[in-house]
Amino acid sequence: MKLQIVDCYQTLSRQAAAIVAGLIRRKRQAVLGLATGGTPMGLYQELIRLHREEQLDFVDVTTFNLDEYVGLTPDDPNSYRSFMQQHLFSQINIRAERTYIPCGDASDLSLVCRRYEELIRQAGGIDLQILGIGANGHIGFNEPGADPGEGTRVVRLAAHTRQANARFFARPTEVPHQAVTMGIRTIMQNSRKILLLASGEAKAEALYRMVCGKVENGLPASYLQLHPNVTVLADRAAAKLLADVGQPLGC
Ligand code: F6R
Repeated sequence: MKLQIVDCYQTLSRQAAAIVAGLIRRKRQAVLGLATGGTPMGLYQELIRLHREEQLDFVDVTTFNLDEYVGLTPDDPNSYRSFMQQHLFSQINIRAERTYIPCGDASDLSLVCRRYEELIRQAGGIDLQILGIGANGHIGFNEPGADPGEGTRVVRLAAHTRQANARFFARPTEVPHQAVTMGIRTIMQNSRKILLLASGEAKAEALYRMVCGKVENGLPASYLQLHPNVTVLADRAAAKLLADVGQPLGC
């Protein structure tokens, strides 16, 4: 695992965008794995800026999102499809048919999950997977206790995760109880490179255990220690428990 510590969220977002943009400029048909939530929002803003001001071209890019809530229609304002539309897709020149997100309101979710795995395989895997990390150590919605051998499937969200994500909903009770998520196996087997972003003190303990702790399903992100090409980009607050932090890059 390569660990890069930066001073603040703004630098983290810019660095992450530079990595994504570098890939797209080298490989027009890049396949990206994308995350939702608060952490990648700065990355998406910076990608939009690079598209507008520096002609970063998404026309041949394909994306696969990690997860979607069960029971929300794609046009529900709280769905991850809506999140991606609002924060990235509607503001760049990506083709809608190349943006994949599991459909959380389909009648046959196990078919959705099987197809999602197949679509990722057909795309030739994922060149760069962006991940956030839950304060409980989840990646995607693979909560503590997840079986690392599982692929895309329906999962129950941990109470902790529903609480953390309640900030995006009008009322905490509206947060769905289930989600479709890529599995740890999906992420580990299909991603040629992984970029995990962590910002803020709330992530410090999970990040420390992910980097320095033992590999265990109590902290799903720890399985990333077994992947050959992972870069962790963390701000100072998230990295505060990591002893060997080196010289943070300034804002
Ligand atoms: C979202 C996802 C989650 C988040 C994690 C951190 O698609 O897969 O694993 O990355 O919950 O969320 P934030 O960034 O909101 O702290």
